[in-house]
Amino acid sequence: MKYLIDTANIEAIRYLNEYYPVAGVTTNPTLIAKENGDFWEIVKEIRNIIGPEKMLHIQTVQKTAEKIVDEALLVKQTLGGNFYAKIPICEESLKATKMLKELGIGVTMTAIFTPAQALMAAKAGADFVAPYVNRLDNTISDGVKVVEYIVEQFKNYNLDCQVLAASFTNAEQVHKCAVAGCHSVTIAPKIFESLIAHPMTEAAIEGFERDWEAVYGNKTIMDF
Ligand code: G3P
Repeated sequence: MKYLIDTANIEAIRYLNEYYPVAGVTTNPTLIAKENGDFWEIVKEIRNIIGPEKMLHIQTVQKTAEKIVDEALLVKQTLGGNFYAKIPICEESLKATKMLKELGIGVTMTAIFTPAQALMAAKAGADFVAPYVNRLDNTISDGVKVVEYIVEQFKNYNLDCQVLAASFTNAEQVHKCAVAGCHSVTIAPKIFESLIAHPMTEAAIEGFERDWEAVYGNKTIMDF
């Protein structure tokens, strides 16, 4: 399982990249607009924080295949490093995917809501597909089931495309994706914390501290 951060918030990325096993960052126009700053300043700072090796998936905003390709190339050339052009699925983006793959540019097909969309994206050459788990759950559909079907399809047809599940509102959805064999998830900053928090863990840690201090006070192992 690869964990990516789904935000354009610089402070959150700096913090999570320092503490968690983060494989990269994904953004979309909504997340960039939320920061309400200069696009290049934001994405350059993200690259600066995560370094050249980790994945950076930046969504394009153009509407035709040729312009999507031009925009993706510009972002790739400006930011360098491990880059994926994130493109919402439609006919133009399928065409753009084939063109980008010929140029050796990584592609993440996003806004995926069905296994059929995911299969088409993978056949066009996408490296990742991003199904929106919580948005599916919100429409009385089953987001994790969709992820499960996509994982199974890629296995059945031996496709070299990974599932990068997105749109989560809680740790349970992420856990179920992991059980379904999902290759990677991109999650909002607050969900990282809920993936490791547990009241019994907190109680256990408090117990260790209490028992140690009762005998050794403030002494640490390094003081012996
Ligand atoms: O990367 C896609 C993701 O940001 C969508 O998440 O929470 O807006 O459904 P959400």
